[in-house]
This record gives sequence, structure tokens and C-alpha cells, in this order.
Amino acid sequence: MSGTVAIVTGGSRGIGAAVVRRLARAGRHVFLVYSHNEDDAAATAQQYATNTAKVIPFKCNIAVPDAPRLIFRRASELGTPVVLVNNAGITGRISTLEGADEDDIQQAVDVNLTATIMLCREAMRHWADLRDEMPRSIVNVSSIAAKTGAPGEYVWYAAAKAGVNALTTGLALEAARHGIRVNAVSPGTTATTIHAKAGRPNRAAEVGERSPMGRPATPDEIAAAVEWLTSAEASYVNGAILDVTGGTR
Ligand SMILES: NC(=O)c1ccc[n+]([C@@H]2O[C@H](COP(=O)([O-])OP(=O)(O)OC[C@H]3O[C@@H](n4cnc5c(N)ncnc54)[C@H](OP(=O)(O)O)[C@@H]3O)[C@@H](O)[C@H]2O)c1
Repeated sequence: MSGTVAIVTGGSRGIGAAVVRRLARAGRHVFLVYSHNEDDAAATAQQYATNTAKVIPFKCNIAVPDAPRLIFRRASELGTPVVLVNNAGITGRISTLEGADEDDIQQAVDVNLTATIMLCREAMRHWADLRDEMPRSIVNVSSIAAKTGAPGEYVWYAAAKAGVNALTTGLALEAARHGIRVNAVSPGTTATTIHAKAGRPNRAAEVGERSPMGRPATPDEIAAAVEWLTSAEASYVNGAILDVTGGTR
């Protein structure tokens, strides 16, 4: 895997940082995309780079129109991008739909769904003619909310993640003949700072307690599934939406 590059959006903290750690440990250079917090990104990059794997932070809002082109161009300076992990996500403030802020809804759809579609399109434009070269794959980070609908919390986010699932299913069928696999990981509630940003810092512990396993996932438990889907071990896994929820449906 030396010289190959994994692009990980939202790689500066939470689930994304755990993915960065695992992919770097597996020998890939990682192009870590984040939007705001330079300290988190720098700390993750410094902590998880290895003797053989560089981790390069890149500040970029994935929801702006030119972002996918820029991300692939800059990542290609590091080596050959062969993995795209669309992990960056936001929920907006917890609310019923009637009380939700219009900007929160728009941004959640832009970041979770539209940017993921556009990054997948960019990957296809770079990879579609490379069938006989290195195996390539996309992993989209969805959410169990796509099935539950997240009533009273963020139904717009759930709708965007349902779109990510449909994107994964359809693109997997388009991409297979090009030697590209497309899969998704669908996490249950995971202990990260996304919940504090949504306005409920204790949400992971509260929801986790009511879940079958009595606790939330750790970011690394989600990252392990992402890593596996990018690996040669998963070479015949395509179009899968892998629940990592501790049994929550
Ligand atoms: N945590 C959960 O319970 C849970 C459950 C199911 C699914 N998920 C999904 O898992 C993924 C990761 O969630 P998380 O909990 O790890 O989130 P998190 O801790 O809040 O981290 C979010 C990451 O995304 C980046 N980001 C946000 N908006 C961005 C944008 N516009 N452009 C580029 N980067 C952006 C953030 O960078 P900055 O800090 O620089 O903004 C940060 O690196 C998301 O897709 C989320 O929907 C999470």
C-alpha cells in the first residue's frame, strides 16, 4: 500500500480521526480534510503519522462547489488516491422539523449528502478509466438515523443519510465494472463531540444506555469497519451498508 493515498473527510476528530489512525497504521498516506478546527487537525496529523505514512491536513469546506476538484488535485500531490472515505457530517441543532433553522437544514443536506455525491463524482472521474490498476474504493459514513428517521432530533439529517444509502447502492452498481467498490458504514450512536454541537453533550451516553449493548460505540469501533471495507479482505464486498450499531435497528 506504500505510496497510495486515502482521502478522509472530517478526519480531524471523532470517527474520522480514528479512521485516519487506522489507515495510516495500515501504510496509506492520508489526506485529512477538515473545515474549521486547525488545532484538532494538526494534533491528529501529528499523532497518527508514522515512519511510512504521511498524514497531511487540508482545510476545506467540502460543501463549496470547487472542493472535490481541489481535494483530489492536492491529494494527488501526495501519491495515488485509491481510497475515499466520505465521513464529514453535521446534524444541526436538535429540534423538531417545524422548529428547525433553515440554515441548519440546508447545511446538513449540503455537507452530508450533496458534498458526498460530488466527491463520489470526482472519484469516478479520476478512477473510471483505471480498471486494471490498483483496486479503488469509496466508503460513505451514513447513520442508523437513515432507518429510524431521528424524530424530534434531526429528521432532515436522517433524510440526507438515507440519500447517502441510496447513493451507495446505486453507485456501487455503476462503479463495479470499473473495478471500484462503493460501500457504507452506518454507525449507531457514537461517543464524539457531534452531540455537543447538536446541543446535547450527554446524548451519546443517554442514548447508548437505552441501546441493546447499554453503551454508545467508540469511534474506533466504527473506524474498524471502515478500514475493513477499504482493505483487500473486503475485495468482493460492494454496495453493502454495514450497520455498526450494537444491535439497534
Ligand atoms: N457520532 C455519532 O453518534 C454518529 C452516529 C451516526 C453517524 N455518524 C456520522 O459519522 C460521521 C462522523 O461523525 P463524528 O461524530 O465523528 O463527527 P464530529 O466529531 O463532529 O467530527 C466531524 C468532522 O467533520 C468535519 N467537518 C464538518 N463539516 C465539514 C465540512 N463542511 N467540510 C469539511 N469537514 C467538515 C469536522 O471538521 P472541523 O472540526 O474542522 O469542523 C470534523 O473533522 C458523520 O458523517 C456523522 O453523521 C455519527
